[in-house]
Amino acid sequence: MRIAVGSDHGGFALKSALVEHMEGAGHQVIDLGTDSSEVPADYPLFGIAVGRAVAEGRADRGICICGTGIGISIAANKVDGIRAAVVHDVTTAALARRHNDANVICLGGRTTGTAVAMDAVDAFFSTEFEAGRHQRRRDEISEYESARHDASPSGVVS
Ligand code: RB5
Repeated sequence: MRIAVGSDHGGFALKSALVEHMEGAGHQVIDLGTDSSEVPADYPLFGIAVGRAVAEGRADRGICICGTGIGISIAANKVDGIRAAVVHDVTTAALARRHNDANVICLGGRTTGTAVAMDAVDAFFSTEFEAGRHQRRRDEISEYESARHDASPSGVVS
């Protein structure tokens, strides 16, 4: 799989470990930065870069890491077509695929240990979307996304 990865300074150390882990597992890694834990780097830039790489088809999936995984997930989710999920362990990583068809996994470099993060990405990249009852819910998000530039998007409960 082609995997785009990006982090801010708070996620750099975990990103480095995961890049090595993913390459060791035979994946093609596209590292979009940052390249230091010492120099502050703004997470939105890297979340959007990873999201765009996936949405534009340059990568099959993405990994985003900041201090908590939260800020960078918010940024990645602004890119049309991206379903970025903050996960904390194997269970949430697998469910993000099974129920949500997430295409970007987000982790916290300051909140999740390296071994747990490695197990979580392994689960994320080896678990399929279940579709079924989850397909309609996933599609409702995509439909809103497609229509949101309209004056009155259908399917919006107000
Ligand atoms: C940077 O200090 C920190 O705010 C960032 O890594 C992230 O945790 C934001 O969500």
